[in-house]
Amino acid sequence: MTMDNLAETGATSLHGSALPVLTVKQLEADPHGVFRQYRRDHAVVLHETGGYFILRFSDLDRLGRDPRVGPSGTSFPESLGISSGAIFDLFEYSMIMADGDVHRRRRAPLSRQFAARAINEMRQSIRRTADDLIDGWYGDGEVDFIGEFAAKLPARIIADLLGLPREDIPEFTRLVYVVTKIFSFGLYLDEIGKIEKAAQQLHDYVETAVDQHHHRPREDFLSAFLAAAAEAGELSPQEILYQIMPLIIGGTDTTRVALATQLALLLQHREQWAAVCDAPSLVPAAVTEAMRFEPTGASTVRVTRENVDVDGTVIPAGQLVTLSMMSAMRDEATYHRPDIFDIRRTDQPRLHPIFGFGAHRCIGEALARVELEESLSAITARIPQLQLDTPPKITGHMGVRRIDAAMRVSWKP
Ligand code: HEM
Repeated sequence: MTMDNLAETGATSLHGSALPVLTVKQLEADPHGVFRQYRRDHAVVLHETGGYFILRFSDLDRLGRDPRVGPSGTSFPESLGISSGAIFDLFEYSMIMADGDVHRRRRAPLSRQFAARAINEMRQSIRRTADDLIDGWYGDGEVDFIGEFAAKLPARIIADLLGLPREDIPEFTRLVYVVTKIFSFGLYLDEIGKIEKAAQQLHDYVETAVDQHHHRPREDFLSAFLAAAAEAGELSPQEILYQIMPLIIGGTDTTRVALATQLALLLQHREQWAAVCDAPSLVPAAVTEAMRFEPTGASTVRVTRENVDVDGTVIPAGQLVTLSMMSAMRDEATYHRPDIFDIRRTDQPRLHPIFGFGAHRCIGEALARVELEESLSAITARIPQLQLDTPPKITGHMGVRRIDAAMRVSWKP
């Protein structure tokens, strides 16, 4: 849907007035401000690149689990005229966009390995990885935190977990940073050719790794997954491949952005930084608040299966619906003074919407949390005198958000 045919949706609110259309330009300039301005009077707005945006926490919470609002399948690539290739297959064959029983079959062989208990057993080795990375640059007194920590830690953990050689990390991370742009839903349309090429290369890389593990099983996650999938006998070779790709994508980029953002936010709120350095028990709350305040995942996409009424606005069947976590997590009706960064807040919901909803809730949540917590624990314990010299710039308001520039921090060793 474009600006030209938005009017054809005939979308109106309860009072019959046309829904506002938010533009990329205004949202990129001040996403939180724009969401705040519209959220007060509108539960639903339109977006110039297509579809409906849901802005309020209570509606997200409800629609995220409503069977009338299902995964979007291949609707998004098809809306761009893409009907084959690696981008298309990523939507077609991965669990993320699948529904019902297909989703269950694709997710089930991975569930045990990603369960909180299994991931907690990795806590010490994740802490060791964080300490090793810090050892690599501690003596220098300054570092580009994104390049030398935030990018490296999750990539090492996912490589070790899947049994991918560490020397492959620079190449697969390069591909992942390009492929994730497709999950920014519409913000990088001029780069589709480049994204398709990277997706194909990532596909080929995973295919080789799967083949190798197939022929020579090892004591690692990938071999265990292949064995579980073979035993269940429910996944095609194509499906097996496309469950591994999202693990590499999700496991590498989202956590990189979250690691940089949480450190920057704490260093910009010095009293809270000092509190975490003094009391490590505050680490989990600091991690949660950073993800609420400046989330890595701005939104997730669904499609209406039938007409759905959201606070008086009827969204017709077959429409793309964006559940904006970024807006919902600053909703005044849910959070007290939502625009204040406060690691001591007591109004965080038990299930943080940053990791999504219902059956599709992020399978990597426990892993991401442990990585974020152990990293923050290691840094606050070892470098409480840390200073933020160049703050990172986080951009985007749909799907996965981006952080591309350097973030420099320094300290007296
Ligand atoms: C801070 C880090 C992360 C954030 C914010 C995040 C966020 C999300 C969100 C919002 C969803 C979609 C849920 C929905 O549509 O309802 C999701 C799904 C998913 N995530 Fe993550 N994620 C993170 C880390 C990870 C990691 C570390 C992995 C893997 C190692 C991962 C793998 C996945 C997969 C495979 C899905 C699809 C689940 C399904 O459809 O059943 N994510 N994630």
